[in-house]
Amino acid sequence: MTPRIPVDQLTPLDAAAELAGLAAEIASHDRAYYQADAPSITDADYDALRQRNAAIEARFPELVRADSPSRRVGAAPSEGFGKVRHARPMLSLDNAFTDEDVREFDQKIRRFLGLEDDQPVEMVAEPKIDGLSISLRYEKGRFIQGATRGDGSEGEDVTANLLTIADLPKVLSGDAPDVLEVRGEVYMLRSDFFAMNEARKAAGDKTLFANPRNAAAGSLRQLDATITASRPLSLFCYASGEASEPVAETHWGFLNRLRDWGFKVNDRVRLCQGVEEVLAFYHAIGSERAALPYDIDGVVYKVNRLDWQTRLGQVSRSPRWATAHKFPAEQVETVLREIAISVGRTGALTPYAILDPVTVGGVVVGRATLHNEDEIMRKDFRAGDTVLIQRAGDVIPQVVSVTLAKRPEDARPFVPPEVCPVCGSLAVKPEGEAIRRCTGGLTCDAQRVERLIHFASRRAFDIEGLGEKNVEFLFSTGRIRSPADIFRLEEAEKDTLLPLKTQPGWGARSTQKLFDAIRARRVIPLDRFILALGIRQVGEATARLLARHYHSFDGWNSAMRAAAAERESGGEAWQQLTAIDQIGPGVAGDIADFFREEHNLKALEDLAGQLERIEDFVQASATSPVAGKTVVFTGTLTGMSRDEAKARAQDLGAKVAGSVSSKTDYVVAGADAGSKLAKARDLGVTILSEEEWLTLING
Ligand code: IVH
Repeated sequence: MTPRIPVDQLTPLDAAAELAGLAAEIASHDRAYYQADAPSITDADYDALRQRNAAIEARFPELVRADSPSRRVGAAPSEGFGKVRHARPMLSLDNAFTDEDVREFDQKIRRFLGLEDDQPVEMVAEPKIDGLSISLRYEKGRFIQGATRGDGSEGEDVTANLLTIADLPKVLSGDAPDVLEVRGEVYMLRSDFFAMNEARKAAGDKTLFANPRNAAAGSLRQLDATITASRPLSLFCYASGEASEPVAETHWGFLNRLRDWGFKVNDRVRLCQGVEEVLAFYHAIGSERAALPYDIDGVVYKVNRLDWQTRLGQVSRSPRWATAHKFPAEQVETVLREIAISVGRTGALTPYAILDPVTVGGVVVGRATLHNEDEIMRKDFRAGDTVLIQRAGDVIPQVVSVTLAKRPEDARPFVPPEVCPVCGSLAVKPEGEAIRRCTGGLTCDAQRVERLIHFASRRAFDIEGLGEKNVEFLFSTGRIRSPADIFRLEEAEKDTLLPLKTQPGWGARSTQKLFDAIRARRVIPLDRFILALGIRQVGEATARLLARHYHSFDGWNSAMRAAAAERESGGEAWQQLTAIDQIGPGVAGDIADFFREEHNLKALEDLAGQLERIEDFVQASATSPVAGKTVVFTGTLTGMSRDEAKARAQDLGAKVAGSVSSKTDYVVAGADAGSKLAKARDLGVTILSEEEWLTLING
């Protein structure tokens, strides 16, 4: 565990780097959990990672990665079972950790739907069973196939195993639609779990399951279904997938139909009138938790009206109409041995705690975040102190408080470092800011190396063989000091007395492979090129926006130089840059800063000179009538909120802009549209009413 800077103090560069790390880390836990049924961390830790990822993405939406965990559910299926493509993707749920989070969830829904303040959102609250989710397909009332979630789009065919579960209806009673997909949770009752482990122990079996969830997952995913048959599995159903006809108007109604057809539905589900009622339910069941016959890790809230669910839709992997309110995690006491400091890519110095290792929620913790210097001072954490560690959703793990009664007499207050522990440059903390930074800039090796690592990373130049360790080696031996040096590496090798292939860890083959990989990147798409430069706040999404907008390297390069020069005067190039939706003055300012630095321009030219070609941006082929079009919404819409309208347009591949220009394709004007409508008229931009827009997008 590396210590984490509080999200609100991250720089864009730190954020991009951390999102990359989180994507890899979460993917590896997903593989362990979904494919090997052997979780590598506790659920609370895992949630904390995902939540951290979500929090960073919420603050830096332009940095959301294509491989972000927020866009994906679980891991791709493992070999062994047949594959099943889900007719409708199996989504996952967003998490809420506090009552405040839940109130915000409610607020977002009402904003999106444009509800009045006094109109409560009816919600169904359901215990969140800790098992594994499955999808069941019925045709003409008969169970024909069942699958695990897998990566959300494709799971494993576990039909034979599911047939062994008594709770699963093989034939439905009453009138079910011809095609019906039902989603639910396979779980193990606590009593069954203990009895099964006891029996295994008695039989001399050393492999006991750690908890009911692992036992359920391990039992269901047996290639030999007779083994599954011998395991006490249970099933609750709670959601729908594909259905050939509508089955209800509300989720509550749907649950009742499930019962009528013969499915087991948890009888602790509750229909609630608004957010305060779901919270009351959460707190009530929380205190009852230990007495329940099965493990639950929270409560799921779902908007009751299905037409509202449809309108709310989803954001990447999770529906907007549901959330999982998790139970809080454990707190434990341990000794803070030392306050250590790490240096990040932008020079941020982050203090973190080295702890006497302690087990929290099943995992050994040896390090924890201390937030920042001010927090250490405010809470007066000292080396030697006995502290309380928490593994909550927010930061992982974190030092919460100090037990003063146990403070050793010789414990001294923390003294912030005056110089960077890596390069020795002055470390300064501007008045009012939370983070102390190394002032070494590109003379600080920690920062230079981090930037080169970013340059060669998968989303940027994607140079295979140029990962963290090799960049560090090539940097420390003076072979690579700037991005352009990477492309001079092979040539430089010819003159050296100490060729790379003679160095420890480098053979002739790996060296040749690296040179080949580098050569292959002398042709690079514009968006990757832009991303690789490591401009503050310019992550993948922003790089793509820029590439899409300016199309060619020459176009982009000259426009950015012009925009940088016109920043104060607000000239046309600057205006064009800031008019791109999602590129505000902050991001534009960072781009301008980059293009105003002589050494950046030199490095950029040096690099471009080494490349064979920077490819123009090509728009992925799209079929919707508004794909690739730039749309501006203005005025009050009646059928949907602005957020909803924007989300739908973006789902269809349109670009939504905040202001009207000659580049705008459509202005959708609601009631009382003002200056934007006038400007659209001036510029001759196509103006659509709300209905015309709907007709257009609905084909
Ligand atoms: S609804 C789109 N309801 O929690 C809605 N999920 O974190 C999909 N789970 O994948 C899920 N109890 O494995 C839903 N009453 C419940 C649930 C539940 C447990 C699990 C399920 C899901 C995960 C999401």
